[in-house]
Amino acid sequence: MIDRVTIEKIMDSVEIVDVVQDFVTLKKRGVNYVGLCPFHNEKTPSFTVSPSKGIYKCFGCGSGGNAVNFIIEHEHLSYPEALKFLARKYNIEIVEKELTAEEVEQKNQRESMLILSKFAAGNFHENLFKHQEGISVGLSYFKERGFRHEILKEFSIGYCLEQKDSFTKIAQKSGYKLNYLIQTGLTIKKENYTFDRFNGRVIFPIHSLSGQVIGFGGRTLKKEPKAAKYLNSPESDIYHKSRVLYGIFQAKKEIVNKENCFLVEGYTDVLAMHQADIHNVVASSGTSLTVDQIRLIKRFAPNITILFDGDEAGIKASLRGIDLILEEGLNIKVILLPPGEDPDSYSRKLSSKEFKEFLVAEATDFIRFKTNLLLKETGDDPVKKSSLIRDIVQSIAAIQDSINRSVYIKECSMLLKVDEGVLYTEVNKIRRKRSEQRYRDISRQEEEIKEKPGKRQPQVFQETTDVQEKEIIRLLLLYGNRDFMEIHSGEEEVKTLTVTEFFINEIINDELEFDHPVCRQIFEEIQHMKNNEQKIEEKYFINHQDQTICDMVTNLLSPVPEISKIWSKHESYIETEEMKLKEVIPGILIAFKNKKILITIKKIEEELKIAQEQQKAEVIENLQTRYILLNNLKKQLSKDLGERIIL
Ligand code: CTP
Ligand code: MN
Repeated sequence: MIDRVTIEKIMDSVEIVDVVQDFVTLKKRGVNYVGLCPFHNEKTPSFTVSPSKGIYKCFGCGSGGNAVNFIIEHEHLSYPEALKFLARKYNIEIVEKELTAEEVEQKNQRESMLILSKFAAGNFHENLFKHQEGISVGLSYFKERGFRHEILKEFSIGYCLEQKDSFTKIAQKSGYKLNYLIQTGLTIKKENYTFDRFNGRVIFPIHSLSGQVIGFGGRTLKKEPKAAKYLNSPESDIYHKSRVLYGIFQAKKEIVNKENCFLVEGYTDVLAMHQADIHNVVASSGTSLTVDQIRLIKRFAPNITILFDGDEAGIKASLRGIDLILEEGLNIKVILLPPGEDPDSYSRKLSSKEFKEFLVAEATDFIRFKTNLLLKETGDDPVKKSSLIRDIVQSIAAIQDSINRSVYIKECSMLLKVDEGVLYTEVNKIRRKRSEQRYRDISRQEEEIKEKPGKRQPQVFQETTDVQEKEIIRLLLLYGNRDFMEIHSGEEEVKTLTVTEFFINEIINDELEFDHPVCRQIFEEIQHMKNNEQKIEEKYFINHQDQTICDMVTNLLSPVPEISKIWSKHESYIETEEMKLKEVIPGILIAFKNKKILITIKKIEEELKIAQEQQKAEVIENLQTRYILLNNLKKQLSKDLGERIIL
């Protein structure tokens, strides 16, 4: 873990323009810089960098943040990796945070397992090319299957010798503890002997996103094996099968380039596709995809193309799982391979060019594919057909984008010869059910949070005060430290309140709460800073460790193009807000209070309706009293507001 001081040192040193310029050509425009956005395709620059605020923002695709966010997004690194990247650029020594004994133990354990895995991969790889048995058994097997050396090297493919525990012995001789050999699953311990898990197998090391070896797959070379064809590393502190994709490390760059990721089943399929010059490919290693794996792909591209072996039963089994991918908002195409072929075998039958052409020609949109596949067997059977329709409707309902959904509804209505309106109704029904379910889940989580002391539960209304809350936060960030007004605190004493103090007093006096969780958190931090007599600094929030806070603050402080135009025409625009703080600040507070009251009134109206239906006289009376009170309050506020416009 990198300690706070080092993080601050890095954040103090980074120059956003300098960081971005390593990847994007920037031109100065006014106080900002602009360039072509590296995160989406564009011809006219909408990517803006603000050196004074230390942030970038693309008005085309919406991406934005500080220098660390840029590196995370551009280089596909994790937060600590991005910090290290920047530290290297600015020659800052990384000081890792002091860890607790338990953390040290865990970290050491993980690190030991990673080092051992790296050693093992190296040893197996060396066997394949240098050891007599490795060459005659392992390498000749790959040669027979037509794999080129360069591919075997790129994927660090290896061979584990046949003798029972030769690897375990070598590892121990090199100083690796049996304990870690067992934890990584490389060694299996029986009561009075140990043996190598992978003996006599060719080895496919599994790499993490950043290229560390975290696990292995081992294939037997026996024609009629007693044990399984493939053995894999067991789950461990470093290897979580459901979170990794085989080949992602070697594929990630090309997935970004091609904006698409091919998904295959097996290790050898990945290798063969690379050999056919297709590098944006990963394997699920024979199991169905998990949400974590889908999200991993989504970090790099919005499109997935699944390659299916030509076995219909297998395809049908995986159809349901594919809805998960749709729910994550990814676009899916599928390619059906000829009967009896897998990507490995089929890519060998064609030239690289032919295979690529095949992939382009055969890629079919998932919903269309599924509809046609199921239609084939329903024929004219009305019962089967209605179950098919229900099935397809489920998939369409999983699509996140409403425009896409309506395109599919249109198409399926034609394919299935069902009225479009009927499909709409069904899709909406399912979506409503799902969102109710999600709402219930959220409410339940909130109940759980509520029960824990110290956490306030967010209110869930359809209508919110988000707009006002964000505006308050924006004003606090920009003008929080300024003197705002004088108050008489004693006979003679006059005290000056800053903008921050004014807002805090008002909000606390009226017992107002922020609904928006991020605004609430920022406001709480600002209160905390004020209590400690710290200044409110934009920079602190822009570089906040909590990504949701960075994102919101970046958005709030981003230069909006429309406004910058106004700035350049009438230089006084920014002056205006500053000069008008005396009006702007009370104005937004009144608007905030007003909206709060309106929401409460609405809520009471709803409750009244229910109470009236249930004829609960006492409740009705109570509610009516509150209703009248609130309406009076509303009138009073409007009067206070005078000429001010309510947001
Ligand atoms: N698999 C596994 N355990 C098994 C069988 C398969 O983990 N007992 C996983 C492997 O990741 C394998 C994938 O499922 O790569 C697909 O299995 P299969 O199609 O049987 O193997 P292929 O990848 O085609 O391997 P090969 O071409 O070497 O037979
Ligand atoms: Mn195969």
